[in-house]
Amino acid sequence: MSAFIDLRSDTVTRPTEGMRKAMYDAEVGDDVFREDPTVNAFQQKVAAMFGMESGVFVPSGTMGNQLALNVQSQPGDEVICDRTAHIYNYESAAGPFLSGIQFMLLQGKQGILSADLVASGFRGHNDWDPRTSIVALENTTNKGGGAWYTKQALSEIATVARNHNVALHIDGARIWNAAVASAIPLSFFGEVADTISVCFSKALGAPVGSMVLSRNELRADILRKRKMWGGGMRQVGVLAAAASYGIHNHLPLLEEDHRRAREFALFLQEFRMFSVNPSEVHTNIVLFDVNEGSVAEVLETLRKHGVGMVPFGPKTIRAVFHFQVGDEDLNRVKQVFAKLYT
Ligand SMILES: Cc1ncc(COP(=O)(O)O)c(C=O)c1O
Repeated sequence: MSAFIDLRSDTVTRPTEGMRKAMYDAEVGDDVFREDPTVNAFQQKVAAMFGMESGVFVPSGTMGNQLALNVQSQPGDEVICDRTAHIYNYESAAGPFLSGIQFMLLQGKQGILSADLVASGFRGHNDWDPRTSIVALENTTNKGGGAWYTKQALSEIATVARNHNVALHIDGARIWNAAVASAIPLSFFGEVADTISVCFSKALGAPVGSMVLSRNELRADILRKRKMWGGGMRQVGVLAAAASYGIHNHLPLLEEDHRRAREFALFLQEFRMFSVNPSEVHTNIVLFDVNEGSVAEVLETLRKHGVGMVPFGPKTIRAVFHFQVGDEDLNRVKQVFAKLYT
């Protein structure tokens, strides 16, 4: 049997030899003193790619999101987001805990909100109404199955947010996938959003690292809270070098991940045992339902046959494609499914 084919997440990639070499070669300094030349240059580079003024390197997407929410809200405020949002479901209730905010949950399609839906999430102005301070979008959606926002939807939602005088945050953990699949230039996301958190540790294959992008005005507060929350790092240039390597070398591979995800979904369609909708596979994530037996049984059987996936609901399994799963691996996964479930 060949090596374990790990489709549990796109966070499971291991740094390549080239990436490790880039880390080894990185010039470093103490970033708490703002003296790491590699991270300083990288922060400016990524901010410029998105047409934003400031980039602050942080250890995780969770910290990036929560910093963005914190610096644009007051305790008692409300954040509008989809009910599948990562900031609501998978960040250990950090919003209420760290910032005293609560969420107004809307039900979009595959985690994607429309401007009308967002407009419906605002409250009145009575003493008893929570004050809305942020609209938060996820692009691509994780629990929503890798869907992305069109340019028009983003523009319309940004207009609604501006008309209500609230901030627009994008959780862009997989914004690279969104940009590749939608052909929207990265600078457009910077035009519509007040803050964006982007991750280098998912599709781009870096071992650690995310960044909060914003206007300069928010930078000092983001840096201060990052330190307060334990995210001040020292010779972080080694991580910035890995992330930079990921942008140069792995971003061009995402299209292939998307193609493999689609191919897998089309293949799965043939099995009575599973339900999948290939037209809902837009990037590197495939969600499918188990029609007979339990999710746990299927996952355990797959694992024994060298394939890793994760549960994503009572009947749902998630498979995520990434650059360390190639065509040969996909063929092997197909063979395993054919053998077990035909
Ligand atoms: C959409 C989304 N946002 C944020 C995160 C958080 O990233 P991290 O695991 O680096 O905290 C993830 C992680 O998978 C994610 O999928």
